[in-house]
Amino acid sequence: MGCLLFLLCVFLSCTFVHGITYIEFIYPNFTASNLKFIDSTGTFLFSHNGTFKAAMFNPDGQQTNFYLCVIHAESNTITWSANRDDPVSNSGKMSLSVNGILITDQDGNFKWSTSPFQSLVSALQLTETGNLILLDQFNGSLWESFRNPTDTIVIGQKLPVGTLLSSSVSSSDLSIGDYKLALRASDTLLQWQNMTYWKLSMGANAYKNSNSAVEFMSINQTGLYLFGQNSTVVVIQVNLSPSEFRIAKLDDSGQFIVRSLSGTNLKPEFVGPVDKCKIPFVCGRLGLCSNGAASGNPVCSCPSNFHVSSLNSTDCVPSDDSYSLPVSCNSINNTSDGSSSLVSYLGLGYGIVYFANDFTMPVKYTLNLSLCQDLCSGDCSCLGIFYEHSSSSCYVLQNKLGSVILSTRSDDDQVGFVKILVGSPPPSGTSQAFRFPIVALVLLPFTGLFLLLAMGFIWWKISKISKTRKVKLDSSTSPSGDLEAFMIPGLPIRFDYAELEAATDNFKTLIGSGGFGSVYKGSLPDKTLVAVKKVTNSGAGGKQDFCTEIAIIGNIHHVNLVKLRGFCAQGSERLLVYEYMNRGSLDRTLFGNGPVLEWQERVDIALGAARGLAYLHSGCQKKIIHCDVKPENILLHDNFQAKISDFGLSKLLSPEQSSLFTTMRGTRGYLAPEWLTSSVITDKTDVYSFGMVLLEIVSGRKNCSLQTQSHSIDEDKSGVGHSSSSSVLGLVYFPMFALEMYEQGRYLELADLRLEGRVTIEEVERLVCVALCCVHEEPSLRPNMVSVVGMLEGETPLAHPRLESLNFLRFYGRRFTEASTIEENNGEENFILYPQVNASLTNTKSSSSPISSYFVSSEQVSGPR
Ligand SMILES: *[C@@H]1O[C@H](CO)[C@@H](O)[C@H](O)[C@H]1NC(C)=O
Ligand SMILES: *[C@@H]1O[C@H](CO)[C@@H](O)[C@H](O)[C@H]1NC(C)=O
Ligand SMILES: *[C@@H]1O[C@H](CO)[C@@H](O)[C@H](O)[C@H]1NC(C)=O
Ligand SMILES: *[C@@H]1O[C@H](CO)[C@@H](O)[C@H](O)[C@H]1NC(C)=O
Ligand SMILES: *[C@@H]1O[C@H](CO)[C@@H](O)[C@H](O)[C@H]1NC(C)=O
Ligand SMILES: *[C@@H]1O[C@H](CO)[C@@H](O)[C@H](O)[C@H]1NC(C)=O
Ligand SMILES: *[C@@H]1O[C@H](CO)[C@@H](O)[C@H](O)[C@H]1NC(C)=O
Ligand SMILES: *[C@@H]1O[C@H](CO)[C@@H](O)[C@H](O)[C@H]1NC(C)=O
Ligand SMILES: *[C@@H]1O[C@H](CO)[C@@H](O)[C@H](O)[C@H]1NC(C)=O
Ligand SMILES: *[C@@H]1O[C@H](CO)[C@@H](O)[C@H](O)[C@H]1NC(C)=O
Repeated sequence: MGCLLFLLCVFLSCTFVHGITYIEFIYPNFTASNLKFIDSTGTFLFSHNGTFKAAMFNPDGQQTNFYLCVIHAESNTITWSANRDDPVSNSGKMSLSVNGILITDQDGNFKWSTSPFQSLVSALQLTETGNLILLDQFNGSLWESFRNPTDTIVIGQKLPVGTLLSSSVSSSDLSIGDYKLALRASDTLLQWQNMTYWKLSMGANAYKNSNSAVEFMSINQTGLYLFGQNSTVVVIQVNLSPSEFRIAKLDDSGQFIVRSLSGTNLKPEFVGPVDKCKIPFVCGRLGLCSNGAASGNPVCSCPSNFHVSSLNSTDCVPSDDSYSLPVSCNSINNTSDGSSSLVSYLGLGYGIVYFANDFTMPVKYTLNLSLCQDLCSGDCSCLGIFYEHSSSSCYVLQNKLGSVILSTRSDDDQVGFVKILVGSPPPSGTSQAFRFPIVALVLLPFTGLFLLLAMGFIWWKISKISKTRKVKLDSSTSPSGDLEAFMIPGLPIRFDYAELEAATDNFKTLIGSGGFGSVYKGSLPDKTLVAVKKVTNSGAGGKQDFCTEIAIIGNIHHVNLVKLRGFCAQGSERLLVYEYMNRGSLDRTLFGNGPVLEWQERVDIALGAARGLAYLHSGCQKKIIHCDVKPENILLHDNFQAKISDFGLSKLLSPEQSSLFTTMRGTRGYLAPEWLTSSVITDKTDVYSFGMVLLEIVSGRKNCSLQTQSHSIDEDKSGVGHSSSSSVLGLVYFPMFALEMYEQGRYLELADLRLEGRVTIEEVERLVCVALCCVHEEPSLRPNMVSVVGMLEGETPLAHPRLESLNFLRFYGRRFTEASTIEENNGEENFILYPQVNASLTNTKSSSSPISSYFVSSEQVSGPR
């Protein structure tokens, strides 16, 4: 009876006083079903002003699956659903009793309910923010839909750390799909089968402001935020244009999409990943995805040696019928009896990559391809491998295979192999499956050569362009006119030369100078302090090239990277405007005569610098190799927060400058040995330099510097033959000394004397071990920066330095000492550790012609397979 009366009320309020009174509360005993409600949408509850409604709803108008939903009225968008895995028919019922909400099918069978409460329910309310709340008799909240999110968050909702959003299968089937959004203490991750495929911090326009632990994620009218430290700190933020209503949803497509209201539609304003090919299952199992970055839909096909498994699906299976794909023993569908079919591998070919490889660690470094395959063969959960030749890294694909991606990067040397079971006696096809590694091994030596040739070619190209450009620029009479031609999105603020002249008081206060030019202190009209870098004879005379680089650098936001605020490209002038770091560079604080850096500050600086570099290498959309990591380029802010500067600038240099630059760095001893041997320069080159910096942070002195008597070496051990008599000043190559002290376990000897023992021995050991691992002569033995951060944080087990790859330090050390005795005390400035650098770099420049023939051959090799 009460129910009928209530229905009448709803009816009246909706028809006669439409838009003025909404039913905001319902009380036990109440029952609703889609059939029973006046407006065919099954709505039984509105928020106070009608922004949201609750209904037994059938998404997309299909007639079989009905869900208890909270819906944004204007856009008709579902923001929450109760029984997503247990839909009911249009006569299924939602009932509210004093025990909570219960959903039953037409026959009264249980489908879904809220869990039991201590006290009785007195009302159900839908708030104006879209939160469905069960209230007790004191209006206390017993249960909230906000605390049980499905795939969406709305303004006013907090997603606490450790919780998940799960995608729906499709827009009409709300049951839990395969994609997850996980909020972690460091970032928001998108995952599939427990494998990460995207991080919020790498999204365009995502600012990482702090390294504090994240507590919750929320959106408001102006952006998306990850908060930490009891809501006082924004750890990561994405600024969005102001909008009264927006939602953030893990879409059934696998993308995380923030949408805002525009008219009666929600239009996307932030999407991750942008490249649809980065979505793990976008083309089905082993489907080959290409063209994902384009605005349309990505194109799915199958790798060679594979074909689509059936008409309806984009899944791919081996073309050869006698091969089958194994089922992982971790899979739910595991029916395999482990019968011993012959295991083999089918190559996917070069230029095909896997989404997870950017986010997972290799299971093993320094493994050859056949051992990597053996590793997979011995693991029933392993379904395939990816092998990276340059670093001899072995990645395994477990549990379920996703789609593969046609790579657009030229530097990928990953090659994938899919595990197959050979059913019938191995036919001729097997040899095809096995032939691939041989081709790969033959190709391997070419990769390095190719890159060198490419570098040479690019230099040649740039110098040609810059010559022609120079002529143009010099004759250009209206410099501001041609600036307008460059509309590159994401470009930081552009300043006029005159503005910067004024800001720096006509370049009065010089605060530094280095490979790129001089740096001046300045103050903008709004009183913010800046550091203005005047780039001397910028090689990239081409303004567009310069601007393109600036757009890339300007779009990188990380708390441990110096922020580029603006730039000036006028005539032949190139200036960069950075945020001002009030404590200057690390070398001054570390080696200077001011107050000594305390140990904890050093650890913080090391970790901050490592995080900044890790972000450059693997956190942002485009990998950036710094090429010049040294204390001069690590700036300090308040509380000794470390910020890396000058990243991305090596690309702005002319070839002449660049080689000058490398020689200069060689003298300082941060340059990795591979510059010498003309192998490929990779992120591991930065890791080496970081290792050298780390040693200096521990010791508080330059690696190549005068050694005071109290640090003198145990002469018979070192073989240096240097006298240990206590008052002699001698030259000691500190990395060699560090190696020796490491071998003897005498870490305390390495810590800065000025600290007078105010150190933690375990931490000294940790820093020294990490540093030595970083300076391994063999680049592939060096950890990547993400692992370095892990080890410094203590999250990743400490790796042990490999002596066989460190012996070169003894060699350098001996030469260093010899040179110093010849040159007396001038060694510090004049000693050149790597005299051949120039020669080996210039060699590559002349030979640019074979490059085109290489392209042809590489295509021929990877094409037909
Ligand atoms: C609701 O139903 C229960 C059991 O059906 C009954 O005990 C209770 O009195 C009802 N409450 C109201 C307010 O009608
Ligand atoms: C409902 O709308 C009125 C007027 O538009 C506004 O004053 C009030 O704050 C709104 N109520 C809620 C709960 O937002
Ligand atoms: C609970 O809230 C409703 C509506 O806001 C109000 O009418 C009622 O008096 C409140 N009850 C208590 C016990 O505070
Ligand atoms: C993912 O990891 C969690 C916890 O480690 C585990 O419970 C779950 O089964 C894993 N899921 C898959 C699909 O491997
Ligand atoms: C959104 O949250 C951010 C971070 O707390 C805050 O700075 C901003 O003012 C908020 N915007 C609105 C419109 O409340
Ligand atoms: C967090 O903030 C709340 C109020 O803002 C305060 O009551 C609480 O003590 C704070 N907690 C911590 C751990 O600082
Ligand atoms: C292919 O799709 C059609 C309709 O879309 C369906 O009827 C058929 O069963 C599907 N076949 C397979 C093999 O899944
Ligand atoms: C198990 O395999 C069958 C066919 O091989 C497939 O239809 C079914 O969806 C699979 N189940 C799961 C849970 O993967
Ligand atoms: C799956 O199959 C393997 C044999 O291939 C067996 O060892 C394993 O226990 C099975 N796992 C499950 C979960 O059934
Ligand atoms: C791989 O390494 C193992 C052991 O290091 C060696 O026995 C094997 O011959 C190597 N295989 C190839 C193809 O180089």
